[in-house]
Amino acid sequence: MTDLTTLEAELTAQVAVAPDAASLEGLRVAALGKSGSISALLKSLGSMSPDERREQGPAINGLRDRIAAAIAERKAALETAELDQRLATERLDLTLPAPPRRKGSVHPTMQVMDEMVAIFAEMGFAVAEGPDIEDDFHNFTALNFPPKHPAREMHDTFFFNPGPDGERKLLRTHTSPVQVRTMRRGNTAPPAPWIAAGQEPPIRIVVPGRTYRCDSDATHTPMFHQMEGLVIDRNIHMGHLKWTLDTFVSRFFEAEGVVTRFRPHHFPFTEPSAEMDVQCDRSGGEIKIGTGTDWLEVVGCGMVHPNVLRNCGLDPDEWQGFAFGFGVDRLGMLKYGMPDLREMFAFDTRWLAHYGFSAFSVPNPASGLS
Ligand code: DAH
Repeated sequence: MTDLTTLEAELTAQVAVAPDAASLEGLRVAALGKSGSISALLKSLGSMSPDERREQGPAINGLRDRIAAAIAERKAALETAELDQRLATERLDLTLPAPPRRKGSVHPTMQVMDEMVAIFAEMGFAVAEGPDIEDDFHNFTALNFPPKHPAREMHDTFFFNPGPDGERKLLRTHTSPVQVRTMRRGNTAPPAPWIAAGQEPPIRIVVPGRTYRCDSDATHTPMFHQMEGLVIDRNIHMGHLKWTLDTFVSRFFEAEGVVTRFRPHHFPFTEPSAEMDVQCDRSGGEIKIGTGTDWLEVVGCGMVHPNVLRNCGLDPDEWQGFAFGFGVDRLGMLKYGMPDLREMFAFDTRWLAHYGFSAFSVPNPASGLS
């Protein structure tokens, strides 16, 4: 009996001070495990006389139950203590300001395209698109660039290896091929759903897109963006072209009465051809639109050449039209004061954070464009 009392006192004392779950488990195994001290006592019951067993049985079973209960109690206490400790040390400080989330922004070129489309859409233009990888016919021949003509050299671009038919595809040098895709009457099954199909005149489209040339300096990059425009109808003349571009420019720069001038120029696909300049002030290292004595070229344009109409199956005696081609990135540089075109495509997110636009500022002529 004394042995049991001593053993219980010892075990109880050890359990009470077990510092953690592992040492408590060690104590449990040593007492109640297969070869534990209490298990050995329970086993010894079998070899006792019935009288002895009657006396020892309840004592040893009672000891086992009390020690098991003490261990369970200590275990719960340790778990509570551990939880309290974690709650005390891992508390979230909700008064701290949240770390700033990096916000994405809309690239100025995309913003400018959206602004341009908003203005032209209001004038009744639809958007048409074409592929970046073009063939010689759409990029040059149909647009009245004769084979070997020097004008092709100004459109020096990236050519692919010849295909099975011997033809070399190229990265389009301008968005003008989409004029051809839209005007061609036979073009009823374009190679992809988003590529312009042939339409019957009257036609009024703008064509935003990527274009490519072997060029790189502060105002030229190998990839850049253009927006083409095309109007085909009866009795269309230069006056319509001039009004359209003048109106566009004053809406785009959000300045009434921006002064423009048309200079004669040459493009193979228009006759007559012109470039339109915008009056500006370059003094002080900054470009200001709408004042000053300088001129800045913003768009090439002209009346669609009769050969182009014929190449697309339209009779020039019945249909006329005008076309124009803007450099979109250049317009953005002018409007938002970005000095170097190359930075627009340098993938520097700091540049984008500075010049980019909120995704929520969707341009529309009613609420303001920029
Ligand atoms: N395609 C010309 C270029 O990239 C720009 C252009 C000029 C387009 C006159 C036109 C146009 O539609 O009429 O240099």
